[in-house]
Amino acid sequence: MADEQHGGVSAAEWWKQAVVYQIYPRSFKDANGDGLGDIPGVTKQMGYLEALGVDAIWLSPFYPSNLADGGYDVIDYRNVDPRLGTLDDFDEMVRAAHASGIKVIVDIVPNHTSDCHVMFQEALAAGPGSPERDRYIFRPGRGEAGELPPNDWQSSFGGPAWERVADGEWYLHLFAKEQPDLNWKNPEVHEEFKKTLRFWSDRGVDGFRVDVAHALVKDLESRPLDEFPADAVSAPLDTSGSNPLWDRPEVHQIYREWREVFNEYEPPRFAVGEAWVHPDHQYLYASPEELGQVFNFEFAKANWCAADFHRAIEEGLASAERSGSTTTWVMSNHDVVRHASRYGLPQVAARAHHQIATDWVLRDGASYIEDRAVGERRARAAILMELALPGSVYIYQGEELGLFEVADIPWDRLEDPQAVNTSGARQIKGRDGCRVPLPWCAGDLPAPASWNANFGDGATGTFGFADRTEGAPAPAAPHLPQPLWFEDFAVDREEADPASMLALYRGALQLRARELTATGDTGLTMLEDITPEAQADKVVAFGRPAASGGTILCVANFGETAVPVPEGEVLLSSIPLEDGVLPRDATVWVRA
Ligand code: GLC
Repeated sequence: MADEQHGGVSAAEWWKQAVVYQIYPRSFKDANGDGLGDIPGVTKQMGYLEALGVDAIWLSPFYPSNLADGGYDVIDYRNVDPRLGTLDDFDEMVRAAHASGIKVIVDIVPNHTSDCHVMFQEALAAGPGSPERDRYIFRPGRGEAGELPPNDWQSSFGGPAWERVADGEWYLHLFAKEQPDLNWKNPEVHEEFKKTLRFWSDRGVDGFRVDVAHALVKDLESRPLDEFPADAVSAPLDTSGSNPLWDRPEVHQIYREWREVFNEYEPPRFAVGEAWVHPDHQYLYASPEELGQVFNFEFAKANWCAADFHRAIEEGLASAERSGSTTTWVMSNHDVVRHASRYGLPQVAARAHHQIATDWVLRDGASYIEDRAVGERRARAAILMELALPGSVYIYQGEELGLFEVADIPWDRLEDPQAVNTSGARQIKGRDGCRVPLPWCAGDLPAPASWNANFGDGATGTFGFADRTEGAPAPAAPHLPQPLWFEDFAVDREEADPASMLALYRGALQLRARELTATGDTGLTMLEDITPEAQADKVVAFGRPAASGGTILCVANFGETAVPVPEGEVLLSSIPLEDGVLPRDATVWVRA
């Protein structure tokens, strides 16, 4: 019902301030003991997600895939990877989610398919110049016999962005070579994806996360390919529209078409774009005529520093206003080092965001000190600040447990193509450290026969990732190894501890829903002058109307010394408070 109201929010606008929980399906919960998380595992933990208080789940790809890029190499967009379940399992999961009041968002990967997708196989079989080949981006090579790639572009995962096929043509892949880029100038590609959007919408899916939404349209014609800048793939993005590969103005026509499909449903299907574009261009993707919402990655990029978060908030809100939408807040996802670790590493300005963290991972966590006490304290402060903001909050599985990055996964166990395929010998360790299966049950760890330094012997499933039934064969080891310290973060342990990160998330989510989201108000007032000491370089402080009356003030202290807690009733704090002051690296919500 379009006009059904929940507090001040209409049913069609559920997403505007939703808390969305990202599930990386292969690492969430393994229901059948084969070492891979699966769809029935999600169904099984629906009670956990409901108790956490999230409004929606977003599932990273669960489609048939050769896992050249963690599932982002899709073989069939309208099916479930048989290792993860069946379409019936999917329907059952959607039913369970809806019964728990949780919406379901699936990941659409439109920039590229798997090289095993039937369309790519047809393109290979049909040969140069064929209509089948025109669905992808094939070009002749340079050199006397076409033996050189069409130009020197390097893929996002390292190595050439062109791959040669048996008949001598080259195809473009901005990511792994198993992920050929589609040609969005071909109308058949448009039809194929509209069919996919309808397929999942018809199955009751509530929305879509659109992978690399800013990449689909390329300018490969305005000049000879070898005259484009060689660094086009990695060049920082401005708003000039001059990059031939990313954030092309023509991409918006695609999302206008998709909007028509979304609006065929009641309520209209929701979409959020992953577009790593200049903040000044985000609003274009989030327009109500297009996707409706776009990820704002400024939090995920920021160091632990008031000025960076301050700017991120101002920019996010301004962009949302420009698009007539709401913004999103994200600290972690399956592509970045977990924020509890990032905040515990040295906070120094670097040439690129996460340079310190990725360097630390590359050196197995040995190059810098990861101060976990500091990281945890800041992660607690950060989530309270984030959850007080208007707009949508995206939580990445495991952050509610306070998980740190697993920096020392042995190289021979890594799965990420950044590490294993394309980047060259031990150049980048990749993203597996945030994709390690979740620990559900501390007591489930079997008595070890032998331990590697940080990991179990790997012979059996550990920490309740797979259930162990009496008499049943031992489950297979998780696809990525869980370190022994995961035991301290297991769900059952945190559920029993009122001071755990999980307890903080649950309490804050409840309060946010009841006092902030329920008003339907998406405004915010920055309070630079909330306390005499509070300057923008030290605290982030803002106020929002509370459903039960008055204002909720949120103050996050990034400075080195304590600041006074504003007058009023303390509703929540990231650490216990004493003497009316808010210590460093802490956040408080006060009703004033
Ligand atoms: C997105 C995904 C990432 C994937 C890439 C290519 O950035 O989040 O995991 O590797 O697209 O599909």
